[in-house]
Amino acid sequence: MANIISGTHLAADVIETVKTGAQALLKSHDIRPGLAVIIVGEDPASQIYVASKGRKAEECGFHAVTHRLTADTSEDQLLQLIGELNADPAIHGILVQLPLPAHIHEENITQAVSPDKDVDGFHYSNIGKLVAGAGEDGFVPCTPAGAMMMIRRVRGDDLSGLDAVVVGRSNIVGKPMASLLLAASATVTIAHSRTHELEEVVRSADILVTAIGQPEFVKGVWIKPGATIIDVGINRIPDPHKGEGATRLVGDVEFDIASVVARDITPVPGGVGPMTIAMLMANTLKAACLSAGVKPPVIR
Ligand code: GUN
Repeated sequence: MANIISGTHLAADVIETVKTGAQALLKSHDIRPGLAVIIVGEDPASQIYVASKGRKAEECGFHAVTHRLTADTSEDQLLQLIGELNADPAIHGILVQLPLPAHIHEENITQAVSPDKDVDGFHYSNIGKLVAGAGEDGFVPCTPAGAMMMIRRVRGDDLSGLDAVVVGRSNIVGKPMASLLLAASATVTIAHSRTHELEEVVRSADILVTAIGQPEFVKGVWIKPGATIIDVGINRIPDPHKGEGATRLVGDVEFDIASVVARDITPVPGGVGPMTIAMLMANTLKAACLSAGVKPPVIR
């Protein structure tokens, strides 16, 4: 049976470090890290994520504000709010929850956030720093940053000689994840919906990161014995055993079988999910520290 990598425990460690760092910054510079979260529309999953981000920011001792905008908000109105937050000295991090309604052009929004408040790491300046391995002052997207921390815990900092496969090529997870694995010297393959012989590609992975969004799409028998599996998928499926209309969360990987074959595996829920929020808090503390010229605590 594989080692289960608990995101719940690891995230709690990160949050403790963030709390301590936030208290120190308040004491030394009278700065309370400020996080603004913007949500447009009523998407129920996004509403839940945004609420938990706000709660966690408060738990960390941050100044936390949530802007809830209606689905008919125009792109100009959203840009206006981002401009105000960019200029607000009490705000160090700005997160616009995705997806946005179809009439708003996502790129215009992600690129309007000031790069030094871009705690999502979606601005091209931060993407460039990640891909080029340049500078310590950039922001890494929260989900891949959390996934990478889990990989480091079980595999160490140097992934030389290991084959890593990332399934999914999104800007939020797949592409930045591949950059992080490459920076750690893994041999990286990015697979996606157009990849031929996906099963064979997955079977080559010493480290497998799945960000597909399809419940248990990756079968347990595809897994290489001894692999480390980081399952980013959070998929809600019907659970008739629990009663009519009941549901449960599963990942992109068939956990029951994969966990017999793998060396390490993340659960869903309680895996990458809590890490994403913890890394958002770490990025916000980092933004606040950098705004004051203070070296942020090392969280890795
Ligand atoms: N929607 C799903 N994941 C994310 C994320 O990491 N950041 C933002 N802003 N929206 C998301």
